[in-house]
Amino acid sequence: MSRIFADYIEKARKILDENWTGTSTKPAPSLYPHQWNWDSAFIAIGRAHYDTPRAIQEIETLFAAQWANGMVPQIVFNREALGHYFPEPDFWQTERSHNAPENKLTSGITMPPVHAITVEKIYMSAGKPRSVIPFLRRIFPMLIRLHEYLYRERDPEGEGLVYIRHPWESGIDNSPTWDGPLSSIKIDKTLLPRYERKDLKHGVDPGMRPGDDEYDRYVYLVDLFRRNEYDETRIRKECPFLIQDPLFNSVLCRADESLARIAEVIGESPETPEEWARKTAGAIRDKLWHEEHEIFNAYDMVADKAIEVDTAAGFLPLYAGAATREQARAIYERIDSSSFCALHQGNCFTIPNYDTQKEGFDRTNYWRGPVWININWMLAQGLRRYGYTLKADSLQKDLLQLPIRFGFL
Ligand code: DGY
Repeated sequence: MSRIFADYIEKARKILDENWTGTSTKPAPSLYPHQWNWDSAFIAIGRAHYDTPRAIQEIETLFAAQWANGMVPQIVFNREALGHYFPEPDFWQTERSHNAPENKLTSGITMPPVHAITVEKIYMSAGKPRSVIPFLRRIFPMLIRLHEYLYRERDPEGEGLVYIRHPWESGIDNSPTWDGPLSSIKIDKTLLPRYERKDLKHGVDPGMRPGDDEYDRYVYLVDLFRRNEYDETRIRKECPFLIQDPLFNSVLCRADESLARIAEVIGESPETPEEWARKTAGAIRDKLWHEEHEIFNAYDMVADKAIEVDTAAGFLPLYAGAATREQARAIYERIDSSSFCALHQGNCFTIPNYDTQKEGFDRTNYWRGPVWININWMLAQGLRRYGYTLKADSLQKDLLQLPIRFGFL
């Protein structure tokens, strides 16, 4: 291993160690001082390469806050760090739900279900895989309950596609995909609960964050959930934001596959997760594919139409193996073009979250342009799955180069 690469690994580990709370990892010490759902899952994948016990603890801490209905919350609050983030438990008021855990403070929404993928990686990366089996046995029923929750509560028609009901559930908070559905929510400021944005108090450039109009809508939706006591049937009737997203569903489908393999390792039946994966893959391929754009788009269930906005989320069905060969070919060509980042283009590293040729492309704003490591990591595996090895290799190489060349933020 080269010296530069060894230094880089050491720096990455140091950051994770500094952000370790004793039971989980903060995504960022001041801006994000609690435990975030999919951040933890990705962090545990990283830790699995060198620290199996902490990777396991990260996931067990998260699942200790699982709701009675199976939902795994987007945030598990760290009591010692309260007061620096918005919205915190006083705003979420999850005690209004009989499903919220008694002894944990959580938000009232979820995030893309990466966890079964993480658990499988922990098993595969462990020096002594057999020692991980007791953890697999403990976590397996919890993973099943999470997937059951998503298919039961978020897919009422049994289509195989689950919906998200808040942009924060997508993991890609201010993606241009949400602009249309959010703008159709008319806000009466006099009825909106009062709130203060704490995200802008940590020295972060506001140009890198969602705008106030977006925050008003984020708050409007949280208020709607708490007024409805987090009851999914009631929320579904009233919520103006119900979206079947290709990223969320691809992660779910890929996690179903991991769940089936975990089942086999511990001697359980893989049948149900296999069936879920088949159904979701088919629904992604049939309903979310846009024939003219040749990419997967999100589907707005309230407006009953596709959201014709092309982002990197639309490439992720490759990761789940949900695309047909023809769809995969078209996607490969789109990824490998100046819209995103072509091989040998010279002026780009990896895949940005939004099409660089679009007017709204913003190279510094959160999910409206920048490159995200987790998305590219999934995409590289997706490309490899369809045989686009050269592109996958180049993505993986460039991904490692990014923090080496530009540093960790
Ligand atoms: C935030 O507060 O920016 C988070 O992304 C929400 O999960």
